[in-house]
This record gives sequence, structure tokens and C-alpha cells, in this order.
Amino acid sequence: MDKKRGRKAKPSVNSLFHLLVSFSCLVHGEVEEVVGYGYVIQSVGVNQSGKLLKADLRLIKNSAIFGPDIQNLNLIASFDAGERLRIRITDSDDERWEVPQEIIPRRHGSFPQNHSSSLERRVLTHPSSDLIFTLYNTTPFGFTVSRRSSGDILFDTSPDASDSGTFLVFKDQYIQLSSSLPKNRSSLYGLGEHTKSSFKLRANDTLTLWNADIGSANPDVNLYGSHPFYLDVRLGSEDGRVRTGSSHGVLLLNSNGMDITYGGDRITYKIVGGIIDLFIFEGPSPEMLVQQYTGLIGRPAPMPYWSFGFHQCRWGYKNVSDIEGVVAGYAKAGIPLEVMWTDIDYMDGFKDFTLDPINFPQEHMKKFVDTLHQNGQKYVLILDPGISVNKSYATYIRGMQADIFMKRDGIPYLGQVWPGSVYFPDFVNPEGRAFWGNEIKLFQDILPFDGLWLDMNEISNFITSPPTPSSTFDSPPYLINNAGIRRPINNLTVPATSVHFGNITVYNAHNLYGLLEAKATNAALIDVTGKRPFILSRSTFVGSGKYTAHWTGDNAATWDDLAYSIPAILSFGIFGIPMVGADICGFSGNTTEELCRRWIQLGAFYPFARDHSAINTRRQELYLWESVAATAKKVLGLRYQLLPHMYTLMYEAHTNGTPIARPLFFSFPQDINTYEISSQFLIGNGILVSPVLKPGAVTVDAYFPAGNWFDLFNHNNSIIVEKGEYVMLDAPPDHINVHVREGSILVLQQGEALTTKEAQSMPFHLLVVASSKENSSGQVFLDDGEEVEMGGESRNWSLVKFHAVVVGDKLTVRSSVVNGEFAVSRNWIIDKLTFIGLEKINGIKGFELPTNKNGNMDVTTSFHSNGERFGIAEM
Ligand code: NOJ
Repeated sequence: MDKKRGRKAKPSVNSLFHLLVSFSCLVHGEVEEVVGYGYVIQSVGVNQSGKLLKADLRLIKNSAIFGPDIQNLNLIASFDAGERLRIRITDSDDERWEVPQEIIPRRHGSFPQNHSSSLERRVLTHPSSDLIFTLYNTTPFGFTVSRRSSGDILFDTSPDASDSGTFLVFKDQYIQLSSSLPKNRSSLYGLGEHTKSSFKLRANDTLTLWNADIGSANPDVNLYGSHPFYLDVRLGSEDGRVRTGSSHGVLLLNSNGMDITYGGDRITYKIVGGIIDLFIFEGPSPEMLVQQYTGLIGRPAPMPYWSFGFHQCRWGYKNVSDIEGVVAGYAKAGIPLEVMWTDIDYMDGFKDFTLDPINFPQEHMKKFVDTLHQNGQKYVLILDPGISVNKSYATYIRGMQADIFMKRDGIPYLGQVWPGSVYFPDFVNPEGRAFWGNEIKLFQDILPFDGLWLDMNEISNFITSPPTPSSTFDSPPYLINNAGIRRPINNLTVPATSVHFGNITVYNAHNLYGLLEAKATNAALIDVTGKRPFILSRSTFVGSGKYTAHWTGDNAATWDDLAYSIPAILSFGIFGIPMVGADICGFSGNTTEELCRRWIQLGAFYPFARDHSAINTRRQELYLWESVAATAKKVLGLRYQLLPHMYTLMYEAHTNGTPIARPLFFSFPQDINTYEISSQFLIGNGILVSPVLKPGAVTVDAYFPAGNWFDLFNHNNSIIVEKGEYVMLDAPPDHINVHVREGSILVLQQGEALTTKEAQSMPFHLLVVASSKENSSGQVFLDDGEEVEMGGESRNWSLVKFHAVVVGDKLTVRSSVVNGEFAVSRNWIIDKLTFIGLEKINGIKGFELPTNKNGNMDVTTSFHSNGERFGIAEM
């Protein structure tokens, strides 16, 4: 994949010295004060198209801390897509590590011809972009990114006191970059993966990115994934030029470990390697911004239809009879169960691609999976990356023969995970990917699983080996705040001095392991099954959404963790991984009936809905308590009705990147109250979920942006707010508040179904939420749910868009169809239409029945006022 190095010199200084330096950095927090420190412009040029600017930079003064400075840098600013500005700063003399093109493809553009140094400022613009890049020939040099339309400054390198006079430090193993933010006008979201009580980032947060097996029950520390991307929603400016809600995004594409300090009015990146590769996405709506972001990093992978059903898992199922009993338990209780999972328990001695011959014997497991399939259900199993070092284990033997394990000092690196000693496959190595694909194929022949769960891929290691660092890779001069205690980066993972194929160090590629594993697994599953893959990966990086879903890892069965799941899920939506959920009812610790009841009420509306728990905790299948079972039937009943809508949101995510679960400000960016909300979310743009997150509560104080909102469980209940306000809602023990906003048209599936297949066999139901202020619209995407492509060239799919227009006393519903033949060939019809909100429309008191009552997808129907029916209309 590449040959570049994160640093140039071999470690020359002993590690003790580096530890001492690191501790001094802890005291200072920033680079020591060096007057006149920084870089100046030597020369600058703009290429012929005018879309690329290159500046050569020279260091004016060295600073002593964190190693020697790089003397000569070059900065390239370019519009590599109209709405996206890229600013790349790196060493002019030596190639450095950067995120491989195979992971995030990006263009460089051609270099400038004419260089000059006599400038004060140089401006770069693009005809189709609102962004302006301005370079300042000051001492030290600086730059800004601003909006042409409003003058709002989005990225601003003006130094402040905390930077000791510079916004940029560039050393071999330490890069520091800062931007000022307009303190009272900027709200930031993103920069994960972390567990947070607040979705909006709080001033004085330090956000560390270094993938680690740290349970998500630990707030504010680095967790399993790294996403150095934030979304900044701005308040309007005093002069009125900046519009409230205007949003932009910033990605620092860098895979090395880093701390990001956010002070409210300043953001500072402190990175231990790589380069500065900054992308600014112009928005200006949050929705457009995520489209632009996923336009660079890759659109989310489509997920199979069945994966939107309900999943049951547990670590600690004893044997096949145990899991058969669970499946039967769900059936008996009449609670939908789509997918049964097995954790590491199914393996023989925790070895991947094996079955425990006593408790999960092959024949019995095969029968179990066949029965699931006959009942329209699915089976997913876990894989860990560590391959047991065991000379009688065929997978290990094949791995050794192919020589595909990650190495250190020329031999496979030996870690410890569940099976004991393990080697880790190298997914950078094409042979490593082939090995993995072959193992998946061999195992699929033994047991026809439907999806794969990739755990422990940060990489998690039960030992720190070797225990003491041997180089500045193992212990870089700047210690990131790993685990919240500046734990050495090698702790409990594969050491940074280990290497991948092509001599790529773990120091540089550590954060990419989970992504590379998911990518290889995705390709293998397509190859082996010919179907759309379902993969759930714990570790992720920028772009992982192209291959995998994600769950938020090891939460705890606590009320706090229930609440934290909302910011976590919303963050992954903006990271381009929309298929995300938290372990329903809580993973570690014993859940309670009340917590589990409230959790399934919320979890039923996560994009990915799975109940999962840790070994030796209390069992928590939903049928175990009467009250939980009753609520599960109710909320999953609504989820299953909403499946066509959720799946259509998956299609939208796949085609334009918009999340399935969204923060309220996505639909209401001008309503500033929505910026603070961490306890509610939207499904798509018009379904508002307002869960109970506190024990004993039977009401919920829910925020409603302006509009008419209708209870999806009982359309007669509506909330009407002229401008956004908090409303105290009843939330009795068996109820979660879910409202749909006026202007929505939802395509639902009717009737009670226990599997998605069963739900799909039922006729559709069109729910039109009329509005006096706006036309209503909605769409549904239909395909077989598991074709590899979603909306691809096969044209084995239909997209039906609905519009309801009110003119005077007449409401007209129209549809337009793309590839309608597919839906017709499936005999899919809408046989029920419901209108809600009619009485709210000027003058309309009712309607006439449509002429084509069993209208197919292409129905165009008008409704007139005839004064006979009111409110909710069903036909
Ligand atoms: C850690 C995972 O996060 C958890 O979900 C799983 O149950 C255990 N590993 C055991 O495999």
C-alpha cells in the first residue's frame, strides 16, 4: 500500500528521556513559548486553472520540545470538488505517512507554474463554491477559510495566547494545528468515537482519537473508532449576513493518534504523525454537508432489508438448545425476532471458524440455522481477528503457510486474546485478505451464516508486550490522552513498532485495522454469498460506513448509558455510518425490568436494534418480563410497520449520505433550541422520538419544533406548536412518544408481523400527514432487500415518490415512479390510505373516496371537501 514513513530518523534517544519530555508536556499542555516561532512563506503560486495554490514555507525558529522541527513545508490549497476545499501541509523534503488513497481516494491537482514571494495576501476561489481560501504573508504566515456569501470565517489560524504565537507546529512526531472559532456563534458535533452525555461538544473537552478496547460505559475517553470530523452549526451574525443554521464541516484526514482540545473559541489538533490534510465542506445545510462529506469518504453501504428487523444476542449462551430456546421464547411471546446471534461461545476453544463439538456441534448448528431460514429468520456470528497459535488448527496452519500475520522484528507478533496466544492477520496484505476470504468461504460451507460480527479489532490485546517501549514509535515524545490517563499507546494492543505488509508501521496504521478488516470481510461476503453483506464492526475509521454497520460497544445496564446512546448514534450518522445501535437493555451489569422496558422503547427506533448482554449478567431477552414483552410487541410492532420507511432512509443514506437517525437541527437548522438536544432524535426528517431516560418517570419533557405533530401510536393525539417549545408528555410505563410531523408522507406496512419477510408480504399503507403550510411528500424504495447493489443498474427496484398538494379545499396526492415495473411484478399494492391533519387545513372538512381504492403505486387521487368526514381518514 505504501512505503512512506511517519518519521525519518531511527529512534536515537532513549525512551526514558521521552517519557520525561512527555510529562513536561503534560505540565505545559502546549508547546513552550518561543517568540517568533512558526513558518513564513518563501514563495507561492497558483496553477493555470486557478483552483490550486501552492506555497513553500520555511521555519523561522526551532522549538526544543517534542523533537526537531521540520524546516521546509509546503501547503497546497485546492478545490478538489466544487464545494470542498482541501488544505494539505506536509514536509517538502521527505515523504511522510498519509491515509492511503485506497481508503479515501482524493485528487491532488496539477502544480502551479509561477511562483512569487511578493504578496501580502493571496485568495483562492472556485466559481461553484461559497468558500474562499486566503493566505496571509505574515510572520508567521496564516490562512483563513471564509464564506463568500456572508463573510463568515470558518477556519481561522490567527494565533492566540494559548498557541504561544503560532497556529502550526510541524515536527516528525508532533503536529499542532489550531483554529479560532466564534465562541458564541458556533456549535460543534462529531470528533468521535466517545461516549458523551451531550451531543453538542462542550467547551474544555479533550477528544482523543486512538482506537482502543475501552468500554463505551466510560464517558469522554477514546473508544473503538477514530473520526476526526466535526460539523459546525453557526448562529446568525449581528450584521445579519450569516444565516442562523448555516453549517460547514471539517475533516482532518489523518490516521495517527491525536488529541483535539476544544475550548469553545478554539480548536487545536495535537497529532503524533502523518500530515495535515484538511477538508472543509461548505454545507450550508447539515444535510448537504453530510452529503458532501460522504461524497469524499464514501457513501454508506446498503444494508439488507432483514437487518432492520430485531436482533437478539448474548455472550454466554451455553449451547444450541439454549439459543433454540431463545428463538422459541420470542415466538411464544409473539415478539418479532429476525436475527439470532452467537458470541464467542459457539467456537471450539475460541478459535475463529470452528464450532464447539460438545455444545455447538456442527450437525445441530446446521439444523438450527436451517430452521431459522425456514422461518424467515437469520443467523449472525462473531469473529475476532486473533488467530489462535496452535499447530493443529487448520486456519492457523494456512495463515502461517501464506505468511499473512502482522510482524514485529521479522516474526509474527504474538498477542493474547480469548483463545490464548494469537497472531493477527494483516489486511493490508492482499494475501491476508485472500486468506480471510477463504476462511469465510470454508466456514460458510459448514454453516450458512447470514452476516458477520467483527469484534476486538482495535486491535484488542490482553497483554502489553513488550512491556517497555523500545523506540519513539512505541513511546512518542507527545503522549496522547489514551484512556484518559495518557496511557502509553502500546498498552493492550499491537505495539506501534509492529508492521504490516509493505513495512507500514502500526504507529501509522493502528486506527485503520478495523476498517481494513471490514473492507476485506465485505468483499469476501459478496464473493461467497453473492448477496448484500451485513457486517457489524466495533472498530471504525473515516470511510468505514462503506463496508459496515457499527454498534456502540460495551455499554452498561444503567440509565446513564441509555441516555448516552442517543449522542453516540447521532454522531455515527454524521460519520457516514448510519446503521448503528447500542446494546439494548445494556451489556455489562444486571439490567432491571424497568430499564429494559425503557430501553427497548428507545432501541426499537435505533437504526440497528439488537439486545445484547455480557456473560454472567442477568438474562435479558425481551420475553422474560411480562411488561417488557408487552411493550416490545407494541414498539417493535410500530418499527415493523415503519420498515419500508426505514429501508427507504437506508437508500437515501446510500445514495446521498444522509443519516437514518438525525439530530433535530437537521430538519430545523434555524431553530437554535434544537442545537442543545441530546435526548431526542428524528428518524428521517419527520419522525420525532422522545424517550423516557429516567427511572420512575411517567412523563417526558419533549421539545417540538414548530408545526403540527401527530402521535404515531394514536393519530388522534396531536401536538401543535406555533414556535418550538417544550411540551410535557405523558409517558406511562408501556409507552414511548413517537410523533410524525405535518408534511410527511410515510409508506408503512400493515399488520402484525414477526419477521421482515412476513411484514413484506402485507399490503402497504400510505399515511399522508397533511399540512396547511406546506405540501406533503415522501418516498419509498422497493427492491428484494438483498441484491448486492441498492438502486443499481439491474433496475430490479422501484422508487415511488408521493406528493400531496392542497389547493383551496382540494387535496391531491400524486405519485411519480422510477422503475415501476419491479413493484408491479411483485404485485405490491397500497390498499390503505390514511390522512391525518385534515381538520387543520383551511376549509377542508373531509374528502371523497378515491376512485381507485385499491390504487397501485401509481395512484393519483383527489380529495374534496364534502363536509362528511373529519380528522383522520382511512380507506
Ligand atoms: C467484546 C464485545 O464488545 C462484546 O459485545 C462481546 O460480547 C465480547 N467481546 C465477547 O465476545
